[in-house]
Amino acid sequence: MKRFRQFRTDAATRDKYADVQVKASDFIYPYFIVDGENEIQPIHSLKGISRFSIDQLLIDLEETIALGIDKILLFGVIENDLKDEVGSAGYEPDSLVCRAVRQIKKQFPQIIIFTDVCLCEYTSHGHCGLLQGQVIDNDSTLPLLAKIALVHAQAGADFVAPSAMMDGQIEALKNILKANNQTAKVLAYSAKYSSNFYGPFRDAAGSAPSFGDRKSYQMDYRTKHQGLEEIAADIEEGADWIMVKPALAYLDIIQRASVTFPEVPLAAYQVSGEFAMIKAAAAANLLNEELAFLESLTAIKRAGANFIITYYAKDFVRKGL
Ligand code: PBG
Repeated sequence: MKRFRQFRTDAATRDKYADVQVKASDFIYPYFIVDGENEIQPIHSLKGISRFSIDQLLIDLEETIALGIDKILLFGVIENDLKDEVGSAGYEPDSLVCRAVRQIKKQFPQIIIFTDVCLCEYTSHGHCGLLQGQVIDNDSTLPLLAKIALVHAQAGADFVAPSAMMDGQIEALKNILKANNQTAKVLAYSAKYSSNFYGPFRDAAGSAPSFGDRKSYQMDYRTKHQGLEEIAADIEEGADWIMVKPALAYLDIIQRASVTFPEVPLAAYQVSGEFAMIKAAAAANLLNEELAFLESLTAIKRAGANFIITYYAKDFVRKGL
């Protein structure tokens, strides 16, 4: 008989044998930014998360930094009447995200800024690429994604993170950054699945597609090896960091990515639906919120993620988990 229970006798012993511990420096904390001043708009589908105008974001960041979280991911949320067919609001040098990046960098130069690079936040149709009729056109989308990345990088973003799932998007971004002497790195949303767990985000970002779905560009979760092939192609194109998204239902992909590409930093995105699910279950007294988050985030790290994008980051540290 092998005696395993000796590793579990009391809390100190269990701590001693724990292989994985999630910490503040693992987190990338998402922010939704809106125009205006003094805006704090609670997002009902993401309990505890709000959209902030830049001035309020700067105030909130003081707390985030004090908690030891030094990485943030920015999403711009613009009014519908500023959106058009081609997402022009996304690649103006003075876009909402660019203005936010500049002000954050001025006040908190130590913060590492990631920006989401996609068309869906800026197009009137809410799709991640350009449309030809009802069809997403991959290749004409690439220069626009590249332009968004360039203005973000010029504003001071440390990482640009293309999430449109267009083929060739990493190469397009790397090329334009290099041609313009920009040192921003690329975090590739490489294995991004067409998921039912993005619902609350689309509400938060106002980026739901006005027709159809994203299955022609985001990955089909019934594939087993394509995620690894997508990651390999992104690394080939020059991705500096890679990502698997969502996280909890894709631990197998996270694990395989971390084993196959150990030299490339790997992020996992605990997406809005994963967050909302635990929140709703806890609100119904079905489980303990803090412990359920602790367990999920630990599992994501145990699978091999080096960094975790999560809406729970601040609470995690606040509660001393
Ligand atoms: C698209 C984007 C989405 C998310 C991050 N970037 C939505 C989508 O692809 O439909 C989802 C994040 C989440 O659900 O928390 N730019």
